[in-house]
Amino acid sequence: MSRDLAIDLGTANTLVYAKGKGVVLNEPTVVALDSRTREVLAIGMDAWQMIGRTPGYIVAERPLRGGAITDFEVTERMLHVLLHRVGVSRLNRPKVLICVPSAITAVERRAVKEAARRAGASASFLIEQPMAAAIGAGLSIHEPVGNMVVDIGGGTAEMAVISLGGVVAVRALRCGGFDFDAALQTYVRHEHGVAIGERTAEAVKLAIGSAFPYPGEQGAEIRGREVATGRPKTVLLSPEEVRGALEENVTSVIAAAANCLGDAPPELAQDIMFQGVHLTGGGALLRGMTQRVADATAVPVHLVDTPLECVVQGAGLCLESFDSLKRLFTTDD
Ligand SMILES: Nc1ncnc2c1ncn2[C@@H]1O[C@H](COP(=O)(O)OP(=O)(O)OP(=O)(O)O)[C@@H](O)[C@H]1O
Ligand SMILES: [Mg+2]
Repeated sequence: MSRDLAIDLGTANTLVYAKGKGVVLNEPTVVALDSRTREVLAIGMDAWQMIGRTPGYIVAERPLRGGAITDFEVTERMLHVLLHRVGVSRLNRPKVLICVPSAITAVERRAVKEAARRAGASASFLIEQPMAAAIGAGLSIHEPVGNMVVDIGGGTAEMAVISLGGVVAVRALRCGGFDFDAALQTYVRHEHGVAIGERTAEAVKLAIGSAFPYPGEQGAEIRGREVATGRPKTVLLSPEEVRGALEENVTSVIAAAANCLGDAPPELAQDIMFQGVHLTGGGALLRGMTQRVADATAVPVHLVDTPLECVVQGAGLCLESFDSLKRLFTTDD
């Protein structure tokens, strides 16, 4: 029997939810290819291990940037392997619901649906990420009450005010956790003359990164290559330095959240003053992010229970009550 699937095809992580089962797959959105033949050698965690470490002919690629598919051929192959892993075959072709960024273009929408169909889906539907996130966060989206979600992912930050099952105000930035990592790489190169890889930058961010001072702050030692000499070099980074390097990105995300709330009609904005803003996505886990969003919007902020799974959980709930929630899916073909 085919089990319908929900897919959160994120810039950083891809999650698959199977109807009646829950999350069945959670892997980094990375594909390792043989550059000579374009053959897919590995996807997900196996491919992620190869980033920055592959011999010349193997390339580890992230097929999405800023929440958008930059390489359709590779994305389709990745979807094919992923769907195969969760049991999709020529005889078993499920319906697939895919979460997409709200800023996606009509052309991109069609391309995503097409990619899913070619990868084995019998039919494909799309749901906007902020809507899925709101459902996953357990918000009562059908009530005539304003709810706000802020999703900070790897390549995008999306925020929306939702009421009566519709998006009332939305802001989306092509800025997320990867941009935080890139800012840290740039900082270390400029200030310390040392080049570090994106995985090292992310590790530092996870270990000591913050958006606001926190108790027990510590520095971190990182290893990279000295730009001038090409030799390995160790640098000690302070928590203030790391915070400073991330600040510009943090500021743009929280400014967008404040503006999104400002776009909402006054009645709904008042609801949100009581309900608070719900934060989801991996970027919401950055230390002090909750506090910074609260300061910028002057409303209470709640971090959802499982920020990295919230979107796919929401889409999964839609599968469970497909017919009643069907009108939330965008249909434009
Ligand atoms: N504890 C943490 N502190 C800071 N950042 C974190 C933490 N955990 C994960 N992240 C960051 O969250 C990002 C991944 O989040 P998520 O899986 O929500 O993104 P995504 O859904 O794949 O991307 P998008 O929605 O933008 O397409 C990565 O950049 C990762 O570094
Ligand atoms: Mg996401």
